[in-house]
Amino acid sequence: MKMPVALLLLLALCNAIKINGEESNEQCDHKLRLDPRPHSVSILEFGAVGDGKTLNTIAFQNAIFYLKSFADKGGAQLYVPPGRWLTGSFNLTSHLTLFLEKGAVILGSQDPSHWDIVEPLPSYGRGIELPGRRYRSLVNGYMLRDVEITGDNGTIDGQGSVWWEWFTSHSLNYSRPHLVEFVSSEYVLVSNITFLNAPAYNIHPVYCSNVHIHNISVHAPSESPHTVGIVPDSSDNVCIEDCNISMGHDAIALKSGWDEYGIAYGRPTANVHIRRAHLQSSSGSSLAFGSEMSGGISDVQVEQVHLYNSFSGIEFRTTRGRGGYIKEIIISDVELLNVNTAFGAIGNYGSHPDDKFDPGALPVLQNITLQNIIGTNITVAGNFTGIQDSPFTSICLSNISLSINAASSTSWICSYVSGFSESVFPEPCPDLEKSNTSSSCFSILKPKGRVAIL
Ligand SMILES: *[C@@H]1O[C@H](CO)[C@@H](O)[C@H](O)[C@H]1NC(C)=O
Ligand SMILES: *[C@@H]1O[C@H](CO)[C@@H](O)[C@H](O)[C@H]1NC(C)=O
Ligand SMILES: *[C@@H]1O[C@H](CO)[C@@H](O)[C@H](O)[C@H]1NC(C)=O
Ligand SMILES: *[C@@H]1O[C@H](CO)[C@@H](O)[C@H](O)[C@H]1NC(C)=O
Ligand SMILES: *[C@@H]1O[C@H](CO)[C@@H](O)[C@H](O)[C@H]1NC(C)=O
Ligand SMILES: *[C@@H]1O[C@H](CO)[C@@H](O)[C@H](O)[C@H]1NC(C)=O
Ligand SMILES: *[C@@H]1O[C@H](CO)[C@@H](O)[C@H](O)[C@H]1NC(C)=O
Ligand SMILES: *[C@@H]1O[C@H](CO)[C@@H](O)[C@H](O)[C@H]1NC(C)=O
Ligand SMILES: *[C@@H]1O[C@H](CO)[C@@H](O)[C@H](O)[C@H]1NC(C)=O
Ligand SMILES: *[C@@H]1O[C@H](CO)[C@@H](O)[C@H](O)[C@H]1NC(C)=O
Ligand SMILES: *[C@@H]1O[C@H](CO)[C@@H](O)[C@H](O)[C@H]1NC(C)=O
Repeated sequence: MKMPVALLLLLALCNAIKINGEESNEQCDHKLRLDPRPHSVSILEFGAVGDGKTLNTIAFQNAIFYLKSFADKGGAQLYVPPGRWLTGSFNLTSHLTLFLEKGAVILGSQDPSHWDIVEPLPSYGRGIELPGRRYRSLVNGYMLRDVEITGDNGTIDGQGSVWWEWFTSHSLNYSRPHLVEFVSSEYVLVSNITFLNAPAYNIHPVYCSNVHIHNISVHAPSESPHTVGIVPDSSDNVCIEDCNISMGHDAIALKSGWDEYGIAYGRPTANVHIRRAHLQSSSGSSLAFGSEMSGGISDVQVEQVHLYNSFSGIEFRTTRGRGGYIKEIIISDVELLNVNTAFGAIGNYGSHPDDKFDPGALPVLQNITLQNIIGTNITVAGNFTGIQDSPFTSICLSNISLSINAASSTSWICSYVSGFSESVFPEPCPDLEKSNTSSSCFSILKPKGRVAIL
């Protein structure tokens, strides 16, 4: 199969970086640009009707089936013109661009029979919300390469309100679907569009490599239960930049599988770069790590983010039985506004998939650096609640200034945690010893806050 030229160049660049002996985790600096597709067809050619009522699942499936034949001819674009295009779930294919024109809205059907039911992910062993199988997402990629969803601010609207009601009233028969899911895919690009009202997650790359998400907005109402924006899950080389996300639960959540299933699958989330994002989450955290992290999460760089009107700003979550690790994380240049708990590291978060988990599988949380942070109207500065048999270590706080509101009774809560701090206000608990830059704690930092060896 012939690969687009830009993709070949990118592969060459990645190899060059490896030959240098130093892999950078600044994923966003390696632009993923896929060549324009030489062929384009409109969904209209497959009989689609954009009246918001006609079901277009077959039109999408037929269009994608037809466009598969262009895979070895430089790939193709599926063009979605202005209109309201109601559909059930459909699959993408490799070397494809799904392009949503300004005014084009793909609407998720509110009839569950239009959503297939599929096996759970192996790293979870069951649906996340209910044991057993789960609904397939609205737009799916399975074992794809070089695939793109973009547009001129077109929209994918999951019309999730029915799913939120079924979730809340416990009338779901399977775990809720997501809007877009890529499984075991590489060179995936999502840009220049808007996501609304996801049933559960908006974008879920799982077992993927080289995923770039640029310039999108993602929104669900603050009361929507457990809706999450972007969830990189057991995936590596991920860039998320210039995104605005406001959600019911978490805005961005990094995960890697659940207890014994995630440990057995053993695929970490690594080399993730997040920058220039505005993140809001009502009941959860703007930026979350875990709690499903059994395959490990490491080498994550976050910079220039604005976290606002959220319950929690940055939260690391795990519990006994998870195994795995969260380590080598550096978060800098953060502005927090109207956040209840600025930073959390919680060692007893979340439940277990079943009673077969190993309570001796203790997670590791270490080498987390938070620096250059300003916060306004914060209630709790930090809640670090580690695990007695596996304390959180090398938690490093530097150049942080939080203005704590009157509702606050304690600024810092620390147990089973150790680390260092310098220039932090209000003054942290003694578990985070005062230090200075010569401390080994900050040795992962190069000047300019870059990560040295990853
Ligand atoms: C979509 O892809 C899945 C594999 O993930 C496959 O089982 C299913 O048959 C495909 N559906 C269509 C309509 O092609
Ligand atoms: C972001 O996407 C919008 C359309 O959604 C487009 O108008 C704008 O130019 C894009 N910005 C960048 C920097 O790509
Ligand atoms: C994109 O569309 C959404 C609603 O569909 C709108 O709120 C937003 O302002 C638009 N963004 C741009 C860059 O046009
Ligand atoms: C769950 O299954 C029951 C029994 O088959 C059915 O009545 C109900 O509508 C289903 N719920 C949903 C949300 O599909
Ligand atoms: C996003 O939109 C901008 C402005 O139209 C365009 O320059 C850019 O190439 C688009 N990005 C992608 C990846 O299509
Ligand atoms: C995100 O919000 C900022 C500030 O309100 C705005 O400048 C930017 O265009 C927005 N980006 C997107 C992708 O909507
Ligand atoms: C402070 O933040 C809380 C949410 O944590 C919010 O309810 C309150 O309105 C904010 N106060 C001001 C003055 O913005
Ligand atoms: C401390 O952080 C602020 C932003 O929060 C930044 O403007 C300032 O340059 C930082 N100071 C140092 C010494 O890095
Ligand atoms: C700190 O986190 C623990 C564990 O989640 C929770 O029980 C406790 O209420 C939190 N404390 C505060 C003051 O938020
Ligand atoms: C990570 O943390 C461990 C244990 O706290 C420490 O020995 C090691 O030096 C740290 N690694 C880096 C790169 O800071
Ligand atoms: C900085 O730390 C080093 C070793 O941890 C110590 O020897 C030195 O006195 C410290 N300097 C200041 C100014 O605290």
